[in-house]
Amino acid sequence: MKLKRVKGTKDILPGEVERWRSLEEKIKGVMARYNYGEIRTPIFELTELFTKGTGQDTDIVTKEMYTFRDKGGKSLTLCPEGTPPVVRAYLENNLDRRSPLAKLFYIAPMFRQENPQAGRLRQFYQFGVEAIGSPWPQMDVEVISLCVDIYQEVGLKGLKLKLNSIGCRDCRASYKERLKSYLVDKEDGLCEDCRVRSTRNPLRCFDCKQEGCQLVIQGAPSILDGLCQGCREHFQAVKDGLEDLEIPFEVNPGLVRGLDYYTRTVFEVLGPGLGAQDSLCGGGRYDDLVEELGGKPTPAVGFAAGMERLLLSLDEGEEMPGLRPDIFLVPLGSQAQRVCLKLIRRLRVMGLSCEMDFLGRSLKSQLREANRQGASFVLIIGERELECGEASLKNMENGQELKINWEDIQGIYSQIRGKDASG
Ligand code: HAM
Repeated sequence: MKLKRVKGTKDILPGEVERWRSLEEKIKGVMARYNYGEIRTPIFELTELFTKGTGQDTDIVTKEMYTFRDKGGKSLTLCPEGTPPVVRAYLENNLDRRSPLAKLFYIAPMFRQENPQAGRLRQFYQFGVEAIGSPWPQMDVEVISLCVDIYQEVGLKGLKLKLNSIGCRDCRASYKERLKSYLVDKEDGLCEDCRVRSTRNPLRCFDCKQEGCQLVIQGAPSILDGLCQGCREHFQAVKDGLEDLEIPFEVNPGLVRGLDYYTRTVFEVLGPGLGAQDSLCGGGRYDDLVEELGGKPTPAVGFAAGMERLLLSLDEGEEMPGLRPDIFLVPLGSQAQRVCLKLIRRLRVMGLSCEMDFLGRSLKSQLREANRQGASFVLIIGERELECGEASLKNMENGQELKINWEDIQGIYSQIRGKDASG
């Protein structure tokens, strides 16, 4: 029986990998322009980091984590999201001592045991940023503008930015009470999960996709009406900043985001052509998380975005050109194979991308293979060439052939590159 990949995972094959790489390079380019440094954290962490960080009542923690015990009995979890790990690394490595503002980015795989469908996987890649240290609304605006600029850089059109504020610890507490009393006599319209949520963590009812719950929640009091003065001013400054940068947005008081650490600003970017999974990216401020994970009170804001959803949203396009060797060596016979193996290594050391036949194919089928791979040049070495020291180097683009001493590595290099190796 052939073994198959695990449900909800993907193989990214040559041909497709080039699209990923090109996206990653563009993302990294924008990150560099915004002066965010790359951070790489482990793909698994102590489970506690997510129960504390992401939140005990979130779908991620209650339903979606890949959790296992190691041989020492410790509970570990494959990272379902990047924010708690980055905050942990920030604290553990005292990054606040390097600079009062840490601007970090990552591109990493995440793991969530969700029901797989288009744009929803069990292993998926996120690119994201975390700016840790600034309470300023301008920081929120920078993070959102960075996100929008990445989408612009990769050529994605038709985006929608949804924005909301969910207040701070203080004003949210009184909002939660109001929401609880609104939900209490609407229990019959709620699903079983939301009935529990409505008393434990009523904000989570906003995330429920069930039609009945959606109907109930649509009539709920707006969180924006209950913001304290500080949160109101902060939200106004974020909106003003986005307007200054001419970034269109839509305020949506029902947007609360499915993770527990958010404070004040939350946002999502929706993309075209994604169907039900239309959230390309999500983020917001999380001013209490650093403290909750054992640090000093430190404000922070960030976002994360799905790579697969971005790729789905971009035009399918044609495959990016794959690898194309500069030269394909065609050995005929075992002696020639030995010689070619030596030659090819020296050419590779000089920086050329090279391929040769390893299957003992006929001249004709080796040439066919060189053609299929789009090699720029072909060098044929058979018994006759070994004896006389000369071989023919064929330019596959214009069909011109040139006799060349096959041991003259410099000569071969300059024919291919149009210059000598030193230049
Ligand atoms: P999130 O909304 O859970 O936020 O995920 C962010 C993005 O990751 C989503 O908008 C989506 O594009 C992608 N994503 C999530 N789950 C899946 C999945 N199962 N399959 C494919 N793509 C998926 C976070 O993860 C927060 N850490 C964002 C953040 C950073 N907030 C502040 N800093």
